Amino acid sequence: MSVIKLLCATLGKATAFLAVLVVAVAVVLKGLDDPEPVHIARMASDVKRLEENFRQQNKSCFILGASGETGKMLLQELLMRNIFSKITLIGRRQLNFEGKEFENLVQQVVDFEKLDDYAAAFQGHDVGYCCLGTTRAKAGAQGFIRVDHDYVLKSAELAKAGGCTQFHLESSRGADKSSNFLYLKVKGQVEADIKALDFDRYAIYRPGVLLVDRQESRPGEWLARQFFSAVSAVCSTSMSIPIQTVAKAMVSNTVLQPEHKFEILENKAIATLGKSD
Ligand SMILES: NC(=O)c1ccc[n+]([C@@H]2O[C@H](COP(=O)([O-])OP(=O)(O)OC[C@H]3O[C@@H](n4cnc5c(N)ncnc54)[C@H](OP(=O)(O)O)[C@@H]3O)[C@@H](O)[C@H]2O)c1
Repeated sequence: MSVIKLLCATLGKATAFLAVLVVAVAVVLKGLDDPEPVHIARMASDVKRLEENFRQQNKSCFILGASGETGKMLLQELLMRNIFSKITLIGRRQLNFEGKEFENLVQQVVDFEKLDDYAAAFQGHDVGYCCLGTTRAKAGAQGFIRVDHDYVLKSAELAKAGGCTQFHLESSRGADKSSNFLYLKVKGQVEADIKALDFDRYAIYRPGVLLVDRQESRPGEWLARQFFSAVSAVCSTSMSIPIQTVAKAMVSNTVLQPEHKFEILENKAIATLGKSD
């Protein structure tokens, strides 16, 4: 009996300690937060009107990575808001969808190792979204570079050559081509290489830890997610974001008319824009 009492007392203390830790970290992170992106907040209030204008233009888009967590959400959001007359999914495998809303989707299955052979799949789209990516743990360092840099860049090149004018890339918080960390370096490098392609409009999204109930086991990411979910329950910070918010922001941003053809949306701007509708 006394062992049970001791266990309860210890667990109670541990829970209280964790709660205090989470609140303390939340307060510190809030203090270090990115500044509120005022221009984004201003533009966000216009989304509904601009969305209607955009819809009238009968544009088409493609999504890379529509089978992934963010890509799935992005597809749902695009279907719900109906801003494109045609949506094409470009991926390495055929996806199965049930429901009327998916009836008009076009799917192009490609071999990413031989993308030049599939140039036709990238032709004739106005807007491209990229949510493609893997992890070093899954693909090894070279495999990670191949997917997150080479496949993404080659797809962007083919899309540009095929007439695409807008490209939206889901990158990552901290992306930096000079970083010593492979992940951030590769993300920064692909951001820069796509910039050199000179799309009429190019938007980079740099979310923090993605908050999502992922089926696939990624222990490190799971731990970070649990922690940041608890922190974001206390207050929102720039360190994490729900995938729904990222998807909403990517769609809302598509219809906005920014001052500059190139823009980087950090986590805070994504959060502001993702809450706009
Ligand atoms: N996880 C995070 O906390 C976090 C934070 C910031 C940024 N990001 C970045 O955000 C992006 C989207 O992340 P996510 O978690 O939503 O993605 P995800 O669920 O891991 O999905 C990745 C997508 O890429 C495709 N893919 C992976 N390896 C491939 C390969 N070898 N060949 C062809 N396609 C391949 C997958 O296709 P299959 O379904 O066929 O495998 C899937 O559609 C990634 O670039 C990621 O680095 C992630």
